[in-house]
This record gives sequence, C-alpha cells and structure tokens, in this order.
Amino acid sequence: MIKKCLFPAAGYGTRFLPATKAIPKEMLPIVNKPLIQYGVEEAIEAGMDTMAIITGRGKRAIEDHFDISYELEHQIKGTSKEHLLHDIRNLVENYTFTYTRQKQMKGLGHAVLVGETLIGSEPFGVVLADDLCEGEGKGVLAQMVELFMKYRTSIVAVMEVEKSKISKYGVISGKEIEDGVFMVQDMIEKPKPEEAPSNLAVIGRYILTPDIFDILRETKPGTGGEIQLTDALKVQAQKGMVIAYKFKGKRFDCGSVEGFVEATNYFYQKFTQK
Ligand code: G1P
Repeated sequence: MIKKCLFPAAGYGTRFLPATKAIPKEMLPIVNKPLIQYGVEEAIEAGMDTMAIITGRGKRAIEDHFDISYELEHQIKGTSKEHLLHDIRNLVENYTFTYTRQKQMKGLGHAVLVGETLIGSEPFGVVLADDLCEGEGKGVLAQMVELFMKYRTSIVAVMEVEKSKISKYGVISGKEIEDGVFMVQDMIEKPKPEEAPSNLAVIGRYILTPDIFDILRETKPGTGGEIQLTDALKVQAQKGMVIAYKFKGKRFDCGSVEGFVEATNYFYQKFTQK
C-alpha cells in the first residue's frame, strides 16, 4: 500500500499577487476550504495516512492549519459554529503531517528531491494542490493507486488539452495498453505547440517509485532553468516504467485566476446543495 503523499508547496504563487504576498497560495480557499485541504482529503481517500509537505519561507500558515488551535477550540466549543471545525479536527487528530523546507526554488523536480527525507524508499503519491481534482466515483489519486497495484510503475495523470494551451504542461507520448492507460515512451516539459508529441498533458497527480530520487540527483536543469520532474520521469519511461492514466473526473487549474473562479462556482453549487 502507498502510505505517504508529497505536497510541493514552496512556490511563490506570483500569479495571485497581491493575495499571495503574505498568504501561501495553497491556503487560498475554494468556498470555505483551503486548496491544500482538498488535496489532503483526496490523499486520505486513496488510503494514505502521512502527508509530507514541502514548504518554504512564508508558508507557516500551512503548518498552523494542520495543527490544534487551543484558543479557537476554547472559543468555539458548544457554539453553533463548532461543526465547521469537524473535518479539519478529524485530519489533525488522525493523520500525520511532516514538513521540510525547500530553501531555494529550483523547480518541481528539486522540490520532490527535497522530500526524499520525508518519504524514504517507498512508492508515494504527489499532489500539486493548485490542481484541484474531483474524481468520478472515486478520487483521482485513489484511481491511480488502484492502477499502481496492477503495474507497479510510476503513474502520471493526464488529460487532453487544446493545442494552444499545451505549452503550459508536461506532455507525454505513449502506446495505449488498455482503455485510457498508456505506456509512456517520451515526455517533454512545456513544449512548443508544434513540438508537442500528443495532446495528453500531465496534471498535478503522480504516483512515483522511489528510484526517482536517484534519477533526480542526476537531472540537470531543463525548461526554464529548473530541475524538472518531467525530465526524471522520462528516464523511467525509457525503461518502460511510467504509465499515463487518463483520469475520470474534473480538474480545475486553481493556479490561474480563471480556473480558480471556475472551481469556486462549481464547488459553491455543491456547497449550497448539501
Ligand atoms: C507542473 C509540471 C508540469 C505539469 C503541471 C501540471 O508545471 O512541471 O509537467 O503539467 O505542473 O499542473 P507548473 O504548473 O508547476 O509550471
């Protein structure tokens, strides 16, 4: 079973300035819940019990969120608002949250490598919290864990993306081995539209096998001068050890204002139907 989930959360969130000047972007709420809590709940649904969070300077609100606030507990106990704390209390009491800091922003691959100390040598999940996912039937990570049981390789979640937007993503090429499941042959980070090997874009959900750490140690800076997770996955893919999975469900790009508003409207509808 996969028990640990890594949350790279050290980025600056510049696309949301000034909102993210003093607040981590992962703490921006969709309706009444911070983005990262959605990701944590998805990991728990997939059977994971340890959240390994990569933070950075200015991110302490994340640690405070997943901790007890005695003052708040004292104020709210016995009031009509107490139920609002029910879900977060459950997370704080029943799951483990571990942290380490990424001191320099050298890319997603670097962030994952910084997490090695929290993960050790076991397969693990990765959630990029600004990709907010809602799975069909079950969560996207839970769907991927199921697939991991069968293939025992790294897995990336992919979706079809219009050509004009493909340069925002890691893009795969591969051979379809069962419906919606591809054996990855090649991967490119943020290709030009004319160089994209397919329209299948990687979104922020991964299952990684721990050999990724040794590969990342050797990975040179790539696109944007950053150490790219995509480049390390490509090395695994060349050994036939990466599966791409067209997940069932929705994904909102909450790293963009447009996607954030879309997610807000969608989850508000659900919120009012409760
Ligand atoms: C990262 C990855 C990219 C992936 C994307 C999904 O890019 O590097 O391969 O497609 O997340 O959201 P970022 O959005 O951090 O630039």
